[in-house]
Amino acid sequence: MKNCPPLLLVALLLSPVFMLSGCGGSDSNSPSSPPFASKEALGESLFHDTRLSANRTQSCATCHNPGHGFVDNRTGADGKVSPVSRGDNGTSFGDRNAPTAAYARFSPAFGQGSHTRAAETVPGNLKEYSGYIGGQFHDGRANGLAQQAAGPPLNPIEMGMESKAAVVERLLENPEYVEAFSQLYGLDLAANADAAYAAMTDAIAAFERSDTFAPFDSKYDRSLLPLGDANRYVYDALDKATQGKSLFFSQFTNCGACHQLKAKGQRGETFSNYEYHNIGVPVNAAARALSGVTGSDDGLLANPDISDDTQRGKFKVPTLRNVAVTGPYMHNGVFADLTTVVMFYDHLKPESDFLENPETGLPWAEPEVSANMSNDDLQQARTLTETEVTALVCFMRTLTDARYEHLLPDDGLCD
Ligand code: HEC
Ligand code: HEC
Repeated sequence: MKNCPPLLLVALLLSPVFMLSGCGGSDSNSPSSPPFASKEALGESLFHDTRLSANRTQSCATCHNPGHGFVDNRTGADGKVSPVSRGDNGTSFGDRNAPTAAYARFSPAFGQGSHTRAAETVPGNLKEYSGYIGGQFHDGRANGLAQQAAGPPLNPIEMGMESKAAVVERLLENPEYVEAFSQLYGLDLAANADAAYAAMTDAIAAFERSDTFAPFDSKYDRSLLPLGDANRYVYDALDKATQGKSLFFSQFTNCGACHQLKAKGQRGETFSNYEYHNIGVPVNAAARALSGVTGSDDGLLANPDISDDTQRGKFKVPTLRNVAVTGPYMHNGVFADLTTVVMFYDHLKPESDFLENPETGLPWAEPEVSANMSNDDLQQARTLTETEVTALVCFMRTLTDARYEHLLPDDGLCD
């Protein structure tokens, strides 16, 4: 840590993961050894570097906190996690909830296509999907992690830097970066701002592709380890999570139609097949009050490459990994609690018992966009009891990476 610049050091102290990793290379005593051993190590430092923001208050880790499921867990005036993120200028807020950057690398390239779903075939269940898939952001507008990483530093309501050249000026402050870009990319950081900026996003993407972002060590993953493995986790037949697991992968809930990528029980499940759907999420007035945005969030139609009105209101299916510790939920953070999310799905079916949003005590609000809803998938399932809702929540809690298990609510819900 001894060579860390003071501002970065402040960020380090606030960031538990960084305590372990230090400033990449600065522990080395040999003056000739490279400051960063790999693109991934350089990317790790950049991911945590507040130099990438105009007032030096924000890094990627501010809104994608490695100590907290790679989401923005900063709280607002009410003490609750804010549904949308405050930018580096201290006053601007975006209009969408920051998704986890963990497991993001598994989203395929953005595009249109068709695939056969992994979910079990049941009568009436739609087995084939054809439409858009993949990309980064809730609307897929960035094609891949490097393109995604190019956005935030220059976004006026996020990190607020004026230009690529201004970002590269900041990188030049750190001689270790100058050396690393030369060694790892063969480029002179000072020579060409566009090339330097592209290399920066490539290094950040390399870090985001590392196992730090995708350890696959939740109870769910551990349950798939071979018999006899010391780390193997066994779903107890009597546990609520076990009932939730069967429900999740069954035709009774149909969750797998969208939140299942691989054959049931196969390792490496990401709990999203990266399709786009409108599930009828209502406006979040609290987020709108912060962002000042008016009008509807058109989702996929807001992607500059999409102009077809039948895509309005659709959002990329998010991963459910670490979902129990990454609330609030949906593209606009409208629901604070996982139980609410499951009841929300249930209310889309005509016979549902859950007529009110438990967080507001009021009837469910109308969808933000009522056209293009995926009712064929959403109404396929039968209605759930309160016990079954809890079981699904308890199952989702078992999708938490080992290092975040201590963040799970200690509310006795799943005992
Ligand atoms: C001010 C908060 C903020 C900062 C800083 C920030 N992000 Fe984000 N990030 C967001 C929000 C909000 C979204 C979703 C925006 C959307 O969908 O329109 C997002 C989306 C993403 C996604 C897409 C995930 C997915 O599943 O689609 C990735 C990856 C990501 N950010 C990585 C980064 C990296 C790398 C940096 C630093 C270069 C960064 N972010 C800086 C708030 C932030
Ligand atoms: C038709 C496809 C589809 C089905 C079926 C489906 N989901 Fe989703 N799910 C989505 C989409 C799309 C979103 C994001 C919507 C948004 O942000 O507006 C989402 C969001 C979520 C979220 C919030 C995640 C976050 O990080 O914000 C949870 C939790 C969730 N779904 C759980 C479930 C469960 C449990 C089931 C079964 C009861 C289910 N889903 C069925 C498509 C689906």
